[in-house]
Amino acid sequence: MLSLEENARRLLDTNARRGDGYYYTAPSGKKYPHQWSWDSAFHAIVNCRLGRPELAREEVLTLFSGMTPDGLLPHISFHHQGFRAWKDRLFRFYWPRPGRSPLVQPPVVALAVREIWEKTGDIEFIETTLPFLERHFKWLGDTRRFGDSPLVSILSPWECGLDHKPAFDPLLGKPAKLPFGRYLALYAAEMKLVLQVFDPQKIVRKRYFNVREVLFNTVYALGLEALARIFDDLGNQSKSRCYQNTSETVSDAIWNECFDPATGLCFDIDLNTGKLLAEPSVSCLMPLALKHAPEDKYQSLVDHLTNTEEFWLPFPVPSVPHNRPAFEPQDKRYLWRGPTWINTNWFLANGLRRHGLNEPAATIANASRELAEQFGFREYYNPVTGEGGGEKGFGWSTLAAIM
Ligand code: GLC
Repeated sequence: MLSLEENARRLLDTNARRGDGYYYTAPSGKKYPHQWSWDSAFHAIVNCRLGRPELAREEVLTLFSGMTPDGLLPHISFHHQGFRAWKDRLFRFYWPRPGRSPLVQPPVVALAVREIWEKTGDIEFIETTLPFLERHFKWLGDTRRFGDSPLVSILSPWECGLDHKPAFDPLLGKPAKLPFGRYLALYAAEMKLVLQVFDPQKIVRKRYFNVREVLFNTVYALGLEALARIFDDLGNQSKSRCYQNTSETVSDAIWNECFDPATGLCFDIDLNTGKLLAEPSVSCLMPLALKHAPEDKYQSLVDHLTNTEEFWLPFPVPSVPHNRPAFEPQDKRYLWRGPTWINTNWFLANGLRRHGLNEPAATIANASRELAEQFGFREYYNPVTGEGGGEKGFGWSTLAAIM
């Protein structure tokens, strides 16, 4: 029998797409044939850890090849020309740059670049990629900050990667109540943004979807920290300090602005009302991945994580806690409404380890490995039975092999 590591390498090879000027790993062969930003970064991290940094390097360089001159890193890039690509292109006819989404995803790419740099010490790679990374983080700070908070906004649920998480339900309006309405609502919202050329004034005035989302901001803080570490290695202390300070400021703001003392969880902020979107999900636990954390608030998230009525199920960590009406791990129509996903597990296990909480970290890591070993690399898993759901041969579930 092959090891989980070997199976992971094989799956990443199966999903690899190479063509004229590109190399990337598709999240899955069928439903997701294109390059998704955070998926690609996860694939690069796994390839790097499994001894194939050259593939990781190529994947990251392909991802950056889609960046706009001002620093937007598209959440999806269509590289190849197959039938599916044409169909998807037609569906996204309103994108201003054909084949490149005008939205972003959590900037996991900074962690991938750091991983490759630490593994290879490849100075040419780091000199090529650092300007892209810096441009992207500057773009996030410049175009996605509204008001005086250091936190950045997402302008579509797709941008945090947790497409249909229940906290967004109240923001999606009536069409979302139709069959498959959440998809319609998301496409409509994306189209509106394009038509208004992402004008910040209009976004605020017309009260578009504008949310300081916890997972996105956590990854933003981790990315800034990764930049600080890279610059420290390169001996550029002033840049390193600057990124480190910004990372800490963002972390502090997550704890200060998003932490809700009444429930002890971190919630997204809806900028149109200034209120917290107080519906629990795995996103509320993501600050466990941060280095900087006040002890009491950190402990409060650990208590929620390890509560058997909420997140501590036989195969943790579910995307929605067990005791909420929105916990529907069997529902195949929508995503992120109950099942366990391996990428959020990877962040949580790493974060807990950083804080010396090796036991819960090991529980999450072992559950993830067991899921992948028993049910294969599926898109997501039932947190009670372990059964796999969604796509088969799903790329980022190979993170289970490096947890
Ligand atoms: C789904 C996920 C999103 C991911 C994409 C490709 O839309 O919600 O996070 O990037 O699939 O795997």
